[in-house]
Amino acid sequence: MEDQIEKIVNLILDSNFLVALTGAGVSAESGIPTFRGKDGLWKKYRPEDLATPDAFKRNPREVWEWYTWRMKIIQKAKPNYAHVCLAELEKKGILKAIITQNVDGLHQKAGSKNVIELHGNIWRARCTQCDYKEYLQTIPQDIPPKCKKCGSLLRPDVVWFGEPLPTEALNMAFYLSNKADLMLVVGTSLLVQPAASLPFIVLKNNNKIIEINPNETILSKKATITVRMKAAETFKIICKHIEELNNN
Ligand code: OAD
Ligand code: ZN
Repeated sequence: MEDQIEKIVNLILDSNFLVALTGAGVSAESGIPTFRGKDGLWKKYRPEDLATPDAFKRNPREVWEWYTWRMKIIQKAKPNYAHVCLAELEKKGILKAIITQNVDGLHQKAGSKNVIELHGNIWRARCTQCDYKEYLQTIPQDIPPKCKKCGSLLRPDVVWFGEPLPTEALNMAFYLSNKADLMLVVGTSLLVQPAASLPFIVLKNNNKIIEINPNETILSKKATITVRMKAAETFKIICKHIEELNNN
């Protein structure tokens, strides 16, 4: 373990262009449920009932109820050591960007600046008819909320199943993955495309991957180092180690 951490710290400090790819697991220790684990959201809810354009057309109120329930959990959640350590690595100029599949905004809350959100953000809503977008300061009470410009229904500004990812974010993610000489892949099951393909770009370029995930994924055997631990626990040790090196 200690050995592994030292190797990881060396890889991080020796990297020229470090990028992180994160998924729901990075926020698990902040109390936000993941999608596919034992207590995962997709064990209790069916994605096709709540996270598709069709579901929204059929029952916008129910979809909004589910999203506002999640917003309540996220509102209470604090960034954990994983978010905080990644933010510190960016501040030190080591980490160049975070590509995240999360919609919870916890990376930004921890102080990260360059965050590429592949699946949108739960704190934004957008009009189903016009170009109106709104940053939600509070959790909408009167649901489904309506557009202030044209009166049509607002929808959460997140990516649903069957929808394309935001072009600019996706292009940036491909660009960063191609440029990365080291990628930290944290808390993602790598079961959803195109996000799941990003670490394989890094491998194809003969660059390095550190995976941090208590469970095995399709990447585990191919990664340069696989850490079978929780994200916050791992990053607490990593950043402490880097601090100690700085102080010596
Ligand atoms: P998943 O729920 O599919 O996977 C979470 C991953 O985190 C699993 O591999 C777990 O083993 C791991 N994990 C759990 N606890 C952890 C911890 N404390 N530290 C580190 N890892 C931990 O979530 P994602 O891979 O993010 O998309 O899912 C991808 C997409 O599928 C989501 O963005 C969402 C979902 O459907 C949309 O809604 C479009
Ligand atoms: Zn509108």
